[in-house]
Amino acid sequence: MLDISYHRSLASMNTFRIDVSCACLVEYDSIADLLELETETLPKPIMHIGRGSNLLFTDDFRGTVVHSCIDLMEILDRNVRIYADCSRDYGEVFGEDDVLVSAGAGTVFDELCAWTAGMGLWGLENLSLIPGEVGAAAVQNIGAYGVEVGDIVRYVYCYDLLEEEIVRFDKKILAYSYRDSVFKHEGFKGRYFVTHVVLKLSRSYRPQLDYGHVRKAVEETGKPVTPDLVRSVIIGIRKDKLPDPLEIGNAGSFFKNPVVSEEVFENIRKKYGADVPGFHLDDGRVKVPAAWLIEKCGWKGKKSGNVGVYDKQPLVIVNITGKAFPEEIISLERRITESVRKEFSIILEPEVEHIY
Ligand code: EPU
Repeated sequence: MLDISYHRSLASMNTFRIDVSCACLVEYDSIADLLELETETLPKPIMHIGRGSNLLFTDDFRGTVVHSCIDLMEILDRNVRIYADCSRDYGEVFGEDDVLVSAGAGTVFDELCAWTAGMGLWGLENLSLIPGEVGAAAVQNIGAYGVEVGDIVRYVYCYDLLEEEIVRFDKKILAYSYRDSVFKHEGFKGRYFVTHVVLKLSRSYRPQLDYGHVRKAVEETGKPVTPDLVRSVIIGIRKDKLPDPLEIGNAGSFFKNPVVSEEVFENIRKKYGADVPGFHLDDGRVKVPAAWLIEKCGWKGKKSGNVGVYDKQPLVIVNITGKAFPEEIISLERRITESVRKEFSIILEPEVEHIY
């Protein structure tokens, strides 16, 4: 299926539910469709999106929005093809309990989490219920509760718009870091469409429970610790404090957690007390929860026209009425950033990608 249509609303294609349009929308569900696509005839720029769960369209988009409907999940036979490829290219030897799983870019990420956890495979359970699709997850290195998808990705297959061919990138080239990958940078951005992501999961017991109250919540169930159990605990935690985009428009965390010097952090502690939260990084700097900074500036639960700061997690900006204009979100973002800058001398950076 290669579906090309013009002047389409994007309201259902971004979780903020901003009602903007695009000049052209392309949807496809196979690599063969992509190879058939005549990109030179499409309005420019061309932008690939997933479920739009980390995007803020600031206006109508004058170019082409491309969306993958490649929706499949399979276990790869590592001993035949993939295993041979890996050991030749990178000298990696997979353990007996490792399982390689491939998912199409258009697969709903949480469906992949449910499927793999259901099979007893460890790796994705902490990432349960994050909105979005597999392709976008691999581009922006989604993360939650101490796990990032970049820890688990082995390869990413892409369509190269320039050379019009399919290429495979090893994880080493993807340069994963906090909500970042090579796909977000010059040279890669706009050039590659992710088609499939290959993840390395494990049958061996390896729960990651050291974030916040996860371990306590898991222990309180009194049940044997399985990927499915951890998944259900994570889903419970997320549902308690993050708004469901199906009920109220939002794009998850709006800001990144800033990283500051030890000195800046100590100054904040002098003013606010020793229990200011902060995570010490290996390089001596400290990651401070943006949620805490925003809350201290009095924004938690504040409303402004159609938009507001979510009352249970101030890192999330919500489209309360479903009728928000992009300008309202941007104005709220500016006011929050400004007050955090004034109070703490810290510049918050958005996590949500702004599309101009
Ligand atoms: N906090 C407050 N007030 C609040 C909520 C949190 O002060 O109302 C402080 C607390 O000190 C808390 C700390 O913020 O200990 C961290 O909060 P939380 O564990 O909820 O995580 P976060 O840093 O706010 C990050 C991700 C989330 C992810 C959670 C859980 C970023 C920008 N956000 O949020 O990701 O779900 O950790 O791992 O890294 C997303 O990417 O859209 C997203 C929701």
